[in-house]
Amino acid sequence: MSPRRPLVAGNWKMNTTPQQGAELASDILNLLGDVDPRGVEAVVCPPFTGLMEAGCALENSALALGAQDIHPESHGAYTGGISGQMLVACGCSYVLVGHSERRLYEGETVAVTAAKLRAAHRVGLIPVLCVGESVEDRQAGRTPDAVLAQLSPLLEQSAIDLAGSAVVAYEPVWAIGSGAAAEPADAAVVARLIRRSLEEVHGKHLSGEVRLLYGGSVSPQNISTFLDLEDLDGVLVGGASLRAETFAQLVRAAWSERP
Ligand code: PGA
Repeated sequence: MSPRRPLVAGNWKMNTTPQQGAELASDILNLLGDVDPRGVEAVVCPPFTGLMEAGCALENSALALGAQDIHPESHGAYTGGISGQMLVACGCSYVLVGHSERRLYEGETVAVTAAKLRAAHRVGLIPVLCVGESVEDRQAGRTPDAVLAQLSPLLEQSAIDLAGSAVVAYEPVWAIGSGAAAEPADAAVVARLIRRSLEEVHGKHLSGEVRLLYGGSVSPQNISTFLDLEDLDGVLVGGASLRAETFAQLVRAAWSERP
């Protein structure tokens, strides 16, 4: 476990109506009543339509709100787009950028994720940049190249923008939603690569502030094996974040491993 405050983020994906989301958020809050937020940070990322309701349920609480995507532009004729300012107005402090499902189904390129990172920084949202290799990359031994290509926007980001305000989630695409998480030893190698690459460009001090998460079939059974890794600071959770009890269990597991 690293010396940084652990972060547990739940990505609800395209699940929950606004009412269901508000209920889920309140249930999580109730289950985390005695957890000291100084020891762990927890974030939930509902769909856009549920941000306001979930945000109201979480107001003045230690559970933070995140969005699943952001438009690169701040306003204008972009039908269907949701800007950073709108997310902030809903109470968001985090935003996922470049999730593999957006890269895969929405054709999101590295250039687009770079623009979204800049958009997040412009309005003070903390981006969670998701990177991870496909099964084909993995089988061809291209994991490092694939991960570094997706990490490149953060490697090019100015050092000021990086200070205390960026999170990277390593999510092997083949592990997402599959029930088969990566081997911790394999995740450790990629986490080291990410940490080293950030250090080379931004120096040890600044890159030491970037929190690094693992994502892909995280469960209460396997979370500690990832939290035990030196370079990892937490987890990004999909399926298991949709049940309040399970998500609360994950947050507690991270809390009990706090530095
Ligand atoms: P999963 O999803 O936990 O359901 O594998 C993780 C993610 O997509 O962030």
